[in-house]
Amino acid sequence: MPIQLENNKRTAIAGKLAEMKAYQNLIIANEEILIQACSDRELSNRLEDFIRDDRKNLGILDTVIVQYGVKAEPSPKVQKEIETVGEMMQDPEFTLFEKVTKHELLKHKQAMSGILVHKAAQVVGADIEVAIAPLNTVNVENRAHQEQLKGMMESLSTLELTGQPADQGLWARVQDGMAALSGIAGSVVSRTDDEISIRDVIRMDHLKVKTLFRQIKDTEDPQKLEEYFGQVYQDLSIHSEAEEEVLYPAVRPYYNDTQKLYDEQAEMKKMLDQIKAMDPNNTVEFKAAIARVREAANAHMDEEERDVFSYLKDSFGDEQQKQLATDFKTAKSKLQDKPLSTTSSK
Ligand SMILES: [Fe+2]
Ligand SMILES: [Fe+2]
Repeated sequence: MPIQLENNKRTAIAGKLAEMKAYQNLIIANEEILIQACSDRELSNRLEDFIRDDRKNLGILDTVIVQYGVKAEPSPKVQKEIETVGEMMQDPEFTLFEKVTKHELLKHKQAMSGILVHKAAQVVGADIEVAIAPLNTVNVENRAHQEQLKGMMESLSTLELTGQPADQGLWARVQDGMAALSGIAGSVVSRTDDEISIRDVIRMDHLKVKTLFRQIKDTEDPQKLEEYFGQVYQDLSIHSEAEEEVLYPAVRPYYNDTQKLYDEQAEMKKMLDQIKAMDPNNTVEFKAAIARVREAANAHMDEEERDVFSYLKDSFGDEQQKQLATDFKTAKSKLQDKPLSTTSSK
């Protein structure tokens, strides 16, 4: 029985990530509307800060989805809810307080989704934890926004109900709530998406593939073997193709051994296709074949990180490296949208 490349649990998590991206777009659209509707300086300043974070976090979500390597669409149910909330935000029948309350619920939902994806990743595989690690930043910022939205709700409802401003200590209390959160946040990496260089993106991919190989080494379960191999097959194929589209042509003028990198990848692809035709129930044979491709892949990845990276560092400016990172992610994302059979060399 040949390998099944798709795995249900992984597709379900992809659905959750797609849902988070759709909600993130809604959150940004809501904040644009709320800023327009808000006459209080304190509140509109905070909303301006939110929208800056949320646009950056949309970029992080995009990166996470591409790193995760499995694409999905948000369910029709989610799309319908997004439409309904969008209409409510435009509807003058609702007060600003009601709109901010709805927005706080969305933030809560988004923060919870982020946490739940992490929990699911812990169950499914260490490679997923590697891929979604940047989500931490999004989660922590969403929690901080929630604290501030609670303050906004207090401010708006006090005004609507009594005609008077909220008590003076309100924002100090909100500040305390946020400070309590920063303890949880710890040393979360909060780089904006456009600060990530090509070397970071490639290294993240390599780490994910190495994690998958380690998981394969540690299991005898044919189902797990099939799942992890399916992911290695997809990740490595797409990573290699994206390198051939973006990275290798860029370094070719500086790095004499570029052709060797192409050849190694062609060889790895051949090995992956051979394994794809094998039966994971013959665990010994199956794992031995994967061990061979692992050895080739590790040597290849080390060569890239040692030699190619030093040429990138010496010959390319920061801006160029960021541009390469963006081009690489875009190439990967496009390849992930195509059925994988088209990336097969067979
Ligand atoms: Fe490569
Ligand atoms: Fe690579």
